[in-house]
Amino acid sequence: MELQRTLILVKPDAVQRQIIGRIISRFEEKGLKIIAAKFMQISPELAAKHYAAHQGKYFYQGLVDFMTSGPVVAMVLQAPRVIEMTRKIMGATFGCDAEGGTIRGDYSASRGLNIVHGSDSPEAAEIEINNFFDPSEILDYDLTINQWIEGKD
Ligand code: RTP
Ligand code: MG
Repeated sequence: MELQRTLILVKPDAVQRQIIGRIISRFEEKGLKIIAAKFMQISPELAAKHYAAHQGKYFYQGLVDFMTSGPVVAMVLQAPRVIEMTRKIMGATFGCDAEGGTIRGDYSASRGLNIVHGSDSPEAAEIEINNFFDPSEILDYDLTINQWIEGKD
């Protein structure tokens, strides 16, 4: 199956709440491969690029303020159908709507403070990954346990 990549951000609320490890574990426990990761501060310019699709909406300024309010962990995950899987693991956009068992459902009681970001399409993922990572920061190594995770179908 064709490999996909996605940009995951552990948002500033999760960093402040000291649950970075738990959020990353949700993806690791699923067996998804991390091929890039860094702790960083998002600049207003990067936030504007990242959320360009939401420019002009009533929540846009609050969203940019939140995403630049403190450090985040940015990651690239790679697997077949990784976008669909990570969106399911994250849950509905607002924590107060998200199902239990999802990251947002388990950790967020808010609308905007929703712990995690994941790309919503292969096209968006490519743009977002390029915005956050230099190609030299992406490590396409062999995860030897993969034969027990992805199988052969
Ligand atoms: P994200 O991009 O952060 O992973 O979230 P998402 O795909 O689930 O949701 P999206 O529609 O892309 O919205 C981006 C972020 O904007 C805030 N938002 N507020 N008040 C509102 O109606 C509203 N809609 C979206 C959320 O913080 C969401 O994460
Ligand atoms: Mg989105």
